[in-house]
Amino acid sequence: MDKIKIIGGNRLEGKIYISGAKNAALPLICASLLTDETITLTNMPALSDIRSMNALLEQMGTQIDSFDDFLDGHETKTYSYRTPKFTSLIAPYDYVRKMRASYYVLGPVLAREGHAELSLPGGCAIGARPMDIHLTSLEQMGAKIEIKNGYVHADINGKLKGAHITFHTASVGATCNILMAATLAEGETIIENAAKEPEIADLIDLLIAMGAQIEGKNTSKLVIQGVDKLHGARHKVIADRIEAGSYAIAAAITNGRIELVNAQASTLRTPLEILKAMGVSVEEGDNSLTIDATNRKLTGQDIMTDYYPGFPTDLQAQFMALMTVSEGASLVTENIWENRFMHVPELMRMGANINVHGHASAIVRGVKQLSGAPVMATDLRASFALILAGLVAEGETIVNRVYHLDRGYEKLDEKLKAVGANVERIKEAE
Ligand code: EPZ
Repeated sequence: MDKIKIIGGNRLEGKIYISGAKNAALPLICASLLTDETITLTNMPALSDIRSMNALLEQMGTQIDSFDDFLDGHETKTYSYRTPKFTSLIAPYDYVRKMRASYYVLGPVLAREGHAELSLPGGCAIGARPMDIHLTSLEQMGAKIEIKNGYVHADINGKLKGAHITFHTASVGATCNILMAATLAEGETIIENAAKEPEIADLIDLLIAMGAQIEGKNTSKLVIQGVDKLHGARHKVIADRIEAGSYAIAAAITNGRIELVNAQASTLRTPLEILKAMGVSVEEGDNSLTIDATNRKLTGQDIMTDYYPGFPTDLQAQFMALMTVSEGASLVTENIWENRFMHVPELMRMGANINVHGHASAIVRGVKQLSGAPVMATDLRASFALILAGLVAEGETIVNRVYHLDRGYEKLDEKLKAVGANVERIKEAE
């Protein structure tokens, strides 16, 4: 398993190109299952999660072509997806256990073929991660759902029927799944308390380009009129707001200055406000964001994760790393996931002063200096938090289990090296 070695202390300066968003790309790929025509996705990030999703679709009968592309100043991937006929309607355990987002195939496959089987994903490092909203909503649309041998078996007699559905929680995954299913249902579907994350707006843009009828983009009430058939389309994936936020903190924590090319400030309002309140300068350009913490003394701030446009849970660990070396105390409250402080003990091994209270809150008191150590984390964002701590720590930090980072940060070591970090990927035989 590869490791990342960092020698801390370098100030970062330069440009980083922000890739296409992983969490937008995953449902977009699955939207291609709604039609027998070709869906072409540009600005796709080269990530292991994308490769896992592609492998799942290929075993269901999707023909996939990939091309290297150059877009908005950086190398990127274009993929085209075509599923004229399914060869399997099953998302097997071996695929789903590698990547929970495999559940995005359920809505589209069921809507198009009338039957789908999905291995239940189960919990993961950050929480129990139930799927009740996805399943009860499909039942409301007329599907028969059975759980057998760890699999969801979903069937419909004829077509899914439009329904008026109110989510008990504004789930991103359920919003995408039910939205996709509703595009091919009979009649009108209304989703109340839908999630409003930018990745959902991106999915709506693709679905509309495919011929779907959807109203309410960027609001918590989505109204979908089902159509008989969807057609091919070409779509550019939005920039990854979490990758952009993560590198913004890399600039802040090293008292550096980084221009984040292709970052969309409009999708990062709350975290940018927190950075400014901590003492960082944020300059918005046409298609970029410049984060400047040169000679700045940063002070702690309180953050509380929430549904979009609130503070994103996927940036909580990275901000906590920044707070460990900011002056004063910061209160961090995690409201989305019940187990998302796994980075805390590792940051403490590097000298951070953090007190966790129950599952949901932690007080971070800034220290003068962290010191390098071998560390590891159990999820993607927590792993990036350790990279950030390593960038500012004295001496050498080795971040183990790099496969977590490869799921969601394209060319991480190259991007950091290009702005002056002393970072090296140590390849190890499996
Ligand atoms: C998405 O996960 C993201 N993943 C997560 O990013 C992100 O943390 C999360 O949204 C919240 O923003 C992808 O987009 C692939 P949810 P998702 O359904 O869709 C509860 C990362 O680091 N819930 O919005 O699985 C659930 O327990 C990952 O890139 C139910 O109760 O999240 C949680 O408390 C990690 N029942 C809350 O809703 C359900 O049926 C939000 O979950 C579904 C969810």
